[in-house]
Amino acid sequence: MNSTIRTRVLTGITTTGTPHLGNYVGAIRPTVQASRNTQTDGFYFLADYHALIKCDEPARIQRSTLEIAASWIASGLDPDKVTFYRQSDIPEIPELTWLLTCVTGKGVLNRAHAYKAAVDKNNTAGHDPDSDVTAGLFMYPVLMGADILMFKAHKVPVGRDQIQHIEMARDMASSFNHLYGEHFVLPEAVIEESVALLPGLDGRKMSKSYDNTIALFAPAAQMRKQISAIVTDSKAPGEPKATEGSALFQIYQAFASTEETAAMARAYGDGIGWGDAKQMLFERIDREIAPMREHYQALIDNPAQMDKILRAGADKARQLATPFMRELRHAVGLRALSSGNIAPSAKEARIALPSFKQYREKDGLFYFKLVDPKGQVLLQSLGFASPKEAGQTIARLQSEGPAALASLRTMLENPKETLEVLNEILGLLKAAQESLEK
Ligand code: TRP
Repeated sequence: MNSTIRTRVLTGITTTGTPHLGNYVGAIRPTVQASRNTQTDGFYFLADYHALIKCDEPARIQRSTLEIAASWIASGLDPDKVTFYRQSDIPEIPELTWLLTCVTGKGVLNRAHAYKAAVDKNNTAGHDPDSDVTAGLFMYPVLMGADILMFKAHKVPVGRDQIQHIEMARDMASSFNHLYGEHFVLPEAVIEESVALLPGLDGRKMSKSYDNTIALFAPAAQMRKQISAIVTDSKAPGEPKATEGSALFQIYQAFASTEETAAMARAYGDGIGWGDAKQMLFERIDREIAPMREHYQALIDNPAQMDKILRAGADKARQLATPFMRELRHAVGLRALSSGNIAPSAKEARIALPSFKQYREKDGLFYFKLVDPKGQVLLQSLGFASPKEAGQTIARLQSEGPAALASLRTMLENPKETLEVLNEILGLLKAAQESLEK
């Protein structure tokens, strides 16, 4: 890869909920930090087509799209320095989804975690395996593949639960490249090791589906209230407390410096009361979030401005997507009927090559012949004692070309004539080779 090409980093957030601290620590904050790296070319988007898979409330999808977009920008993402857009503003994405659908094994999708989990749940409940499973859920990895491959992303920062999807995108890219030529970059998942999964109020992973979240940009009073609901044990003030397994401690750690975390660990050992620990946590989070809160609110209050930002981002993204999609359509054969002077694809050229055919004659010996695509025999071998010998001769002829001829000649009845025929074949092979390289 040319070293002047910046590494392209791409990630999306599904627009089904109000951003919480888990989204912030796990996705928003790391992407904002990465976007400041001038060596990278960031693509950040709102995965609203993905939202349709799990949410059938239009107002909620619309609201969530605004909230996630505002969270990203309020947290420091600069839409002028990255490409920031809404997935559904790029019609090329569903178009590419179809091309990828046609190179993706159904069996591969059967193994996707999200789909499998839904089937397992149905099986456990004694329902039909696919009960309430939409084709959208089944196709989820293909849509995600299109998101990634459309923009030739090198790196895709995601949570661990998404690694499988990136691997599937790689497989789709290789299958497509194998069939139609090198069009796609093979992406890699990036797992931020230092970003621990943030626990929620009840200690399980912070997630909307567990209803255990702390909203990212709620008013300070509400954030304080949510923090006070974090589950702790029942140790009284003065009793030493364990940091391990403490959701409160883990959330604190996600915001604090190493020194601050060490100080909190000492306070645990010294028996800090849970009320005081929660107050410390609130203050630490608020120190980071408060300066962004006003900006967030201003963005939420001006959705027309956000529309504008996102439309500009989509324009930028489509400057790549539109010509690329044109290239891909052409590659698969969705092209002008008059574009006849186009070199055949690698596969087509291969089909047009003369081919070797092996067979056995009544004399018990093994023969081969070289036949052109129209069925004309270009070369006829003498008999070999075993199919293996015949095969080896074919292999030599294929790999060595002219060098193989010297020994081959001695095997044929009429050396002079044979040489003429072989020279003709070599010319044919060479022409085929050249059209392959084109
Ligand atoms: N599926 C991702 C999630 O739920 C969101 C997403 C959609 C995404 N398309 C993507 C992430 C492409 C990275 C790249 O977290």
